[in-house]
Formats: sequence, structure tokens, C-alpha cells
Amino acid sequence: MSIYIDPAVALSLRGYEMPERLGFGTAMAPVMFRAVCQDGCWSNGELIPYEPLSVDPAAKVLHYAQSCFEGMKAYRTGEGIALFRPEKNAERMAYSAKRLCMPPVPESLFLDGVRTVAAYCANLVPGNSGESLYLRPFLIGTQADLTVSASTSYEFYVIASPSEAYHSGNMRLWVEREDARAAVGGTGDAKVGGNYAGSLLSIGRLKERGYDQSLWLNPADRSSVDELSGMNFFAVIDGALHTPALNGSILEGITRFSLIDLARNLGYKVVEGTIHIDELLGQVASGTCTEAFACGTAAIISPISVIGDDGGSYKLSQVPGPVAQHLRQALLDIQEGRVEDHFNWMLSV
Ligand code: COI
Repeated sequence: MSIYIDPAVALSLRGYEMPERLGFGTAMAPVMFRAVCQDGCWSNGELIPYEPLSVDPAAKVLHYAQSCFEGMKAYRTGEGIALFRPEKNAERMAYSAKRLCMPPVPESLFLDGVRTVAAYCANLVPGNSGESLYLRPFLIGTQADLTVSASTSYEFYVIASPSEAYHSGNMRLWVEREDARAAVGGTGDAKVGGNYAGSLLSIGRLKERGYDQSLWLNPADRSSVDELSGMNFFAVIDGALHTPALNGSILEGITRFSLIDLARNLGYKVVEGTIHIDELLGQVASGTCTEAFACGTAAIISPISVIGDDGGSYKLSQVPGPVAQHLRQALLDIQEGRVEDHFNWMLSV
């Protein structure tokens, strides 16, 4: 498909100054990609200056949350700019879109969008290890109509932000036993805004207690670990790497399944199964569980220092642990082009 490049893009990029401190997701690149879908027909994509959207106040996205998104990164490698497994993001976004009765963005249009933004923003991709150009593709239902029905019109965007990792430093987790992140049969395994909105109250509560992130339990049994808000969970128990098996309420993280493959390739035993929270807390207390970490595109790998609940606060003995450090380095070495990409994960833009 041909992509229209707005002539104003060059001027926007020329005038852009990189922020002195990057942070995560606060400084936006001055361009964005857009395509629209009317009655199931997608337009060609266009690259335009970054600007506020004009959305009708009655648009479905504002009332019924017809909205899904992706998180991915463009990395500076020795040979240029590359994306990590972008076809997996296209696939997951198509899954999320279908779950919300939205037309999936065709893979070729999705890839055009992320490649075009990354290529035009090549000078905005930071060079320090662990930093990247974070890309945020998203899809919204724009039809102005207050009936509860699927929109007939949609807009797909890709925006970008030169960023550091989402969480630098160690994380203190609070076991969330009151609220649930996802419902049985709900949208927990789709990347939709509502899942994140539903987690905010918990995050507010735990911050008051001195914690950083909620550890969500499975909504059906309320006793096994699902994930964090926006990150998957791993623990090293008896020397093996454990992570909750996908169960319909966990978001299938691209970093999660890439780490599983990478860890197995590096010789670790990886167990995808049920992690009962009370057993896990006992294993942390007894030292059988030596380390735990969260992973995600934005977060990469973030060590967990403490898991707490009303019963007490359980400290991990190795923070960051050797497994987390090994896997983080091995993953970044591939993403940042320091080693050969045997898995064929990277796509040059
Ligand atoms: C990502 O890791 O890309 C995400 O979408 C998580 C988000 C909470 C920052």
C-alpha cells in the first residue's frame, strides 16, 4: 500500500528537540501514522504531524471503550533501526480488536505504520542500552452514536515516544485480594484500555501502603497468581523459572513468550503452571523462591524486591537475581544488535 507523507512532517521533525531526561512515555515524537476504516474498508496510511485528535463527543470509544492498543519498541542497533517481533504485535492487536468487535488492522497496514514511524523518527531513537523509541499503535471506534453497538468507523494511529524502561529499580508488589483485574470470560487476555482503567484504584491504594504494583490473582479462584498491571510475572523456585500458564485472563506478553524461548535456549528449566499465592509467599519466606521479576515490552525485566499483603511483607533474597540479570542482558543483546539474532526476531526498518 502506498503511504502518504504529509510535507509538514519534515518541518516537525527538523524542529524537534530530544528531551534532556527521557522518562517513560512523556515526550512524544512530532509525527504520527493514521489510517481510517469505514464500514470495513481501510484507507491507505498517512504520516502526519503529531496533533490532538478531533473526536466527536458521542464517539463510541468515549462511552463504550471500543479501544485497543499495543506496546512495542524501535531499537538502535549497530546497523540501523530495528523492531522486535512486530508481527506478533500485529497478531495480538487483531485478537484484541476482534474481542471488542472492531475490524482488525490488516497486518500489512500495521507493519507499514510502525515501520514508517520508526524510519522517520530514526534520529529520535536513543542510543543508551535499555532506552528505545517506544511505539504505541492504537485503534478506536469513532462513530458518533450512543446506542450500544459496534462502531461503523475506526481510526488507527501509531504514536511514538523516546523512552527509558518503564520501571527502573526494584519493585514492591502488593497482593491484590480485593479487586480483580479481569473477569472470567472477560477481556483479560486482550490489550484493551478498560483492563488498565480497572487497575488504577488498586494502584492508588497500594501506593499509600508504600508498594509499587499490584500482583493480580486469577479472577476465578482468587488464589493463584495471574500478572501485574501491564507486566507478566516470573519467579525462580528451586532453581527453575516459573510463570503462570495462560488461562484466558492473563495478557500473553510478547516479552513473556520470548523470554520463555530464550531461557530454555540458555538451558533453564521453565515451568508454565499454576502459582498459588500462599505457597509462593511461603517459598519466599523459606528462601526456596530466591528471585522474582516482572517483564513486559515497556518494563523489559524489572526485579521484584518485596511481595506483601495483610499478613506481612516477604523479601526476595536476590534482587536483582542472577537469572533476571542474565535474561535481561541476553534479551537486550539481541534487541540492541550486540549478538547474532539466531531466533530471527528483529526486523530492520
Ligand atoms: C507495554 O509494556 O508496552 C505496555 O503496554 C504496558 C504499559 C502499562 C506501559
